[in-house]
Amino acid sequence: MGAATVWALPARWYSDPEIYQAERRHIFSRQWLWIGREAELAEPGQYITAAPAGFPLFVRRGEDGALHGFHNVCRHRASKLLTESSGRCDTIECPYHGWRYRSDGALDHVPLFGEAPDFPKDELSLFSISVDVWRGLLFVCLDPDAPPLIEWLGPIEDIVERTAPAQASFGRELVFVADCNWKTYVDNYQEGYHIPPLHPGLNRDLDWKRYRVINFDGGSLHDGPPKDRSTHPGAFGWRFPNFAFNSYPDGLSFMRMEPVGPRQTRLVYDYWRPDSVSQEDFEATIAYGVQVSEEDQWITPIIQENLEAGVYDQGPLSPRHENGVHYFHEMVRQAMGSAA
Ligand code: FES
Ligand SMILES: [Fe+2]
Repeated sequence: MGAATVWALPARWYSDPEIYQAERRHIFSRQWLWIGREAELAEPGQYITAAPAGFPLFVRRGEDGALHGFHNVCRHRASKLLTESSGRCDTIECPYHGWRYRSDGALDHVPLFGEAPDFPKDELSLFSISVDVWRGLLFVCLDPDAPPLIEWLGPIEDIVERTAPAQASFGRELVFVADCNWKTYVDNYQEGYHIPPLHPGLNRDLDWKRYRVINFDGGSLHDGPPKDRSTHPGAFGWRFPNFAFNSYPDGLSFMRMEPVGPRQTRLVYDYWRPDSVSQEDFEATIAYGVQVSEEDQWITPIIQENLEAGVYDQGPLSPRHENGVHYFHEMVRQAMGSAA
């Protein structure tokens, strides 16, 4: 007897606001999240802000030269402290009532507050978050008990070390917004089953029949061999919940699927240009990637609409082609526990 049929997540999980809130708490506040590049924070005082899954955050390079990450929430009455997407500031000063914080997050100055003898100034530091950098990518984690970033990356670290171009510099960031739940987009990323109908261009280049997904603890590696070569010294893959990479000697890119709300996802692509690749070839690689992404961005809102229509609940997953989707769903189920 073959293995039992496995089923996708219930349709409700793709739009229910309560599920989304539970995912924010149980998934996005416990995993490492890629939010930017270290090069954006070269000088002391430089910062970037982000709001992955609705958690407003900022990372700033302190006067001590170190990176400090915080929730972008004032301890007085919750205003954002930094309201631009990036910039430089000498002090962290709230735009609402002017409370000021030091580089390390300690509350430093409270203007004209009045008599308050038991004011707990020492207890009103900014809420800090973990910050780490891998290959120039800036990651944050809201959970102080999470494993170190390098451990979290698992086999991705070694694969990218072995297959990425020896020399490459950051080339271009592309951002799209897709009207679908973040899981709708990850589901789509996690299988090659849809390549022949949806991606005719990609299908001409990939040996679709040999496409395989190999799950590891926390993510999946994809093996999509090109048709014209028997060897392909590279890999692409995904790390739960929303980080993906694509690493070949002649091309390197990273991607994330960042929830904006239960029905909207920001797709961020960073393309690195290998020194060995001409600008023209680099542009062609980006155009090729955008074509594939646009095809995915066309279908995912269509799927989303139908998941919300109240007709369909769960469909069966192909053991041959959708083992990556199944693994992702198992991770979601496990992280959510009884919260769903
Ligand atoms: S909310 Fe920040 S100073 Fe009042
Ligand atoms: Fe696709």
